[in-house]
Amino acid sequence: MRTHYCTEVTEELIGQTVKVVGWVNSRRDHGGLIFIDLRDKGGLVQLVCDPEDNKEAWHTAESVRDEYVLIASGKVRARGEGLENPKLKTGKIEIVLDELIIENKSKPMPFDINDEKVNEEIKLRNRFLELRSKKSFDIFNLRSKVTITVRNTLDELGFLDVETPILTKSTPEGARDYLVPSRVHGGEFYALPQSPQLFKQLLMVSGFDKYYQIAKCFRDEDLRADRQPEFTQIDVEMSFCNQEDVIKVAEKVIYDVFTKVGHDIPSSFPRITYNEAMELYGSDKPDLRYDLKMTEVSDIFEVCTLDIFSNIAKDKKKNRIKALKVPNGDNIFSKRQMKGFETFVRKFGASGLGYFQMKEDGLKGPLNKFFENTPEKLEELVTRCELEVGDVIFFGAGEKKLVWDYMGRLRIELANQMNLIPKDRFEFVWVVDFPMFETEDGKTKALHHPFTMPNLEKCDLNNIEDLESIESIAYDIVLNGTELGGGSIRIHKQEIQSKVFELMGISDEEAKDKFDFLLNALEFGAPPHGGFAMGLDRLIMLLAKTDSIRDVIAFPKTQRAQCLLTSAPSVVDNEQLKELSLRIRKTEI
Ligand code: AMO
Repeated sequence: MRTHYCTEVTEELIGQTVKVVGWVNSRRDHGGLIFIDLRDKGGLVQLVCDPEDNKEAWHTAESVRDEYVLIASGKVRARGEGLENPKLKTGKIEIVLDELIIENKSKPMPFDINDEKVNEEIKLRNRFLELRSKKSFDIFNLRSKVTITVRNTLDELGFLDVETPILTKSTPEGARDYLVPSRVHGGEFYALPQSPQLFKQLLMVSGFDKYYQIAKCFRDEDLRADRQPEFTQIDVEMSFCNQEDVIKVAEKVIYDVFTKVGHDIPSSFPRITYNEAMELYGSDKPDLRYDLKMTEVSDIFEVCTLDIFSNIAKDKKKNRIKALKVPNGDNIFSKRQMKGFETFVRKFGASGLGYFQMKEDGLKGPLNKFFENTPEKLEELVTRCELEVGDVIFFGAGEKKLVWDYMGRLRIELANQMNLIPKDRFEFVWVVDFPMFETEDGKTKALHHPFTMPNLEKCDLNNIEDLESIESIAYDIVLNGTELGGGSIRIHKQEIQSKVFELMGISDEEAKDKFDFLLNALEFGAPPHGGFAMGLDRLIMLLAKTDSIRDVIAFPKTQRAQCLLTSAPSVVDNEQLKELSLRIRKTEI
């Protein structure tokens, strides 16, 4: 239909006749002369019509409104002196209309697609219109480039693209399942996969050697800015590999993706252990774009005459006292702001937040009097935390996981308030040596998933005192404080898998009921294997520098897991419920 896309009509075409198609972005009437900005997927071009030159086209141009669909032909000419628009690729030219056809009309738009501040609900109800915006086009252009790069890289590395079922059995990634009732087997349900985890492991037992899939995953969990109920993973698995081999593949994929879309990043990334991450940054997904590290100071507080602190300081296995230095904080923050940080950490379970200010004559703060007899300890604090005049240090004291958590959050809050985060940097880090298990509300669960290989060089599964001390061969890739992906070496021997289930308190019957097919497969010559999965939506979110995962999904769900465009989920009629052996809604009986 067209000779050129709008953005292809540039000054090289001056003097030529072109035909363009698209939507009316805007129309301006300048005392007779009509200007139309025509938009297609890539951007805008200006059409112009003079009633003296072409009465028929001018009449048509007069009747067009925003978002009408036009087919326009005309000669390309240079814009007049001073009328160029350097912001547009086509800003030096305009098309003088020979012929203008209104191919379709549009109702008035429910919102201005070029205005990013419009209420999100209105945009989501009309998502197909929001997708007309340049911002959306750029994001989906990027997403398409990224997926094709991922496919090319993995293909070059010998990975096979295999699809796995959507109607399946529960896969334990830690969220609730979405269930689908079976019509044929009344009362029975399929689960939508939380990830292709078990199938990709089975493919390794099948001898496929290297698998990948750009896979849809479904998790019924509380939604956040970087979580959707339905999301996409770049899912990878390989055989006869160790952690290094898997990390190398993930780094190659990331490197190729970032360089393809114009970002210069290193080809491999630094690593820290889970323990280091928690002790230094209070998080297993530390943002390394800024410094702000925590220092352990329990030993200094052991002599403090305030019992709360000295008692906490005594049990170094269970507790932590963490100092967080804020360079020049004394000059940056008012008393009120300092108090605000205490209110902030209390929201996350802290019972208080101690602090010292570094003055010309030493450390000053409400805790001074408890070191009256041991001033040398305060000196030690100054040296250990490398304090200079003007610095502030905050203290969190208590049970270690609690302290890590709220001090980690304080670190991020401070960085935000102090504008310490360079928005244009990409800082990757591998977090390795995760614990195998964590205990929550007295229940032991796998930190990654129960198919992760424990580090058998560092523990004997038949002689375990503290479950939380078992390390796993698991790794997460973190970018700018967001968990981009994670993976592990898997258990490939049935007896180890059974032992791990036993340690988690999963009975033989339960394991058989849920994972019989996997346990069975492990008894037919399963090779050593491992892999990873990266959140594609999160990757695009970080590359596109947008705050909401919804921006990078064509038809996303709200925080309450609804699709406002189609009104899903919605009620179905009783006939359908009956067919599925589901209870009929009472109100309609
Ligand atoms: P995991 O559960 O860590 O691992 O998921 C891998 C990555 O998927 C992304 N992700 C999400 N993205 C958007 N919305 C969600 N609700 C959501 N949940 C997870 C994250 C995360 O890092 N089977 C294992 C991988 C493996 O071991 O190979 C798994 O799914 O970016």
